[in-house]
Amino acid sequence: MFALLCCLLTVIHATTCERKPVIIVPGIMSSILDIKLDIPEDSTKFDGRCQKTEDWDRLWASYKLAEKCYTDYMQSEWNSTSNQMHDPEGVQIRAPDFGKTYAVDTLWPQIPWKKITGVWHTFIGHLTDLGYKDGVDMMAAPYDWRYTQSKPIDDWLEQTKQLLQTSFEVNGRKAVIISSSMGGYVTYRLLDYLGKEFCDQYVDQWIAISMPVQGSAVAVKMITVGEDVLHLNLEIDKLLNVIQSIESVVGLLPIDTIWDSNDVIATIEETGEVYTVKNIHEFIQSIPKVKEFGDYVYENTLKPYYVNNNYKVPNNVPLNCIISNGIETIESIDFKKSYDSLYSINYGDGDGMVNYNSLQACSMFTQNVTNIGKSSHNDILKKTETFEVVQKLICN
Ligand SMILES: *[C@@H]1O[C@H](CO)[C@@H](O)[C@H](O)[C@H]1NC(C)=O
Ligand SMILES: *[C@@H]1O[C@H](CO)[C@@H](O)[C@H](O)[C@H]1NC(C)=O
Repeated sequence: MFALLCCLLTVIHATTCERKPVIIVPGIMSSILDIKLDIPEDSTKFDGRCQKTEDWDRLWASYKLAEKCYTDYMQSEWNSTSNQMHDPEGVQIRAPDFGKTYAVDTLWPQIPWKKITGVWHTFIGHLTDLGYKDGVDMMAAPYDWRYTQSKPIDDWLEQTKQLLQTSFEVNGRKAVIISSSMGGYVTYRLLDYLGKEFCDQYVDQWIAISMPVQGSAVAVKMITVGEDVLHLNLEIDKLLNVIQSIESVVGLLPIDTIWDSNDVIATIEETGEVYTVKNIHEFIQSIPKVKEFGDYVYENTLKPYYVNNNYKVPNNVPLNCIISNGIETIESIDFKKSYDSLYSINYGDGDGMVNYNSLQACSMFTQNVTNIGKSSHNDILKKTETFEVVQKLICN
């Protein structure tokens, strides 16, 4: 009897969802990236044994990540004239199937990786149960998450604007943008880019899941010693080389205008160095590979957009935040002698990737902050509690 009632309710529920179109915006390292090579014959940039030409193929995530050639291809370069990061000559990297959910559903669609890399898989399953159709009213706007302020992001802003317009033509309703983690940064920039009139016409609301509103101290560890965020078993040295050459991790460091400026983020015992949020630029300058581009990227990822919008949501787009906590999260890191030496980590509350203060800071934007309780950053998208909040907002 109970089983019957439950299924009956499910059916009724499904048929009463008047679906608002949704667009998923994923976080850092959380969408598929494909690579294409067309490196000039005479280039000496990469090891002579590395391939110079190759057609589009999945890079993130795949066994290619175990090969040094591929983690070398992933390292972007800084142009100090244009203040832009770009890929090495002959290397193209992109998130595939813009507009569909393929790139966000499962990062590595092969066994045994399929299960552990199904970042949005459960969430997409719930949407499908409500009748959502991929690429029609269930869309995704993946981007090359190595970038947060250079040209690939400018291109993404325009592409996503067009997706919102197309969706409106197809579905006849405004879309709900659902971001996860750093996807909240690019969504904030998107709303700023779209302007008031466009937002009023095409954006129903924004749901930000696990947004690091003030940045994250976990980025301090990522950028000094590396961190295999999604537990892909990547070699940490190769990953660190990638992390230190891309702009997104610098952009995720604690934001000094809103994070408690006296908080310590790193210390070096032998030199007596103490880096706090207040002198975060000295910290950035202390990392050789990041030094050249770090200050500019840190200042220009999100801060100017926050300032322009008075630290409110651009164009008054309604916002709901969903957060979790109760998981040990890095607050600071103590090194013995240097960043290559032994270190110990100090933990505090958060979701494992974002500190609790930064998650809660969403209340600076909206009174709609739902804490679903104990859950990690990676698991929150899989939780029924999360989808229940989302469902109420997209089904009417
Ligand atoms: C760097 O940017 C400048 C200005 O946009 C451009 O003229 C120049 O070609 C770029 N250099 C490289 C190596 O891409
Ligand atoms: C809070 O959520 C409700 C329901 O989605 C929405 O109407 C309202 O505008 C939101 N408030 C803010 C400040 O975003």
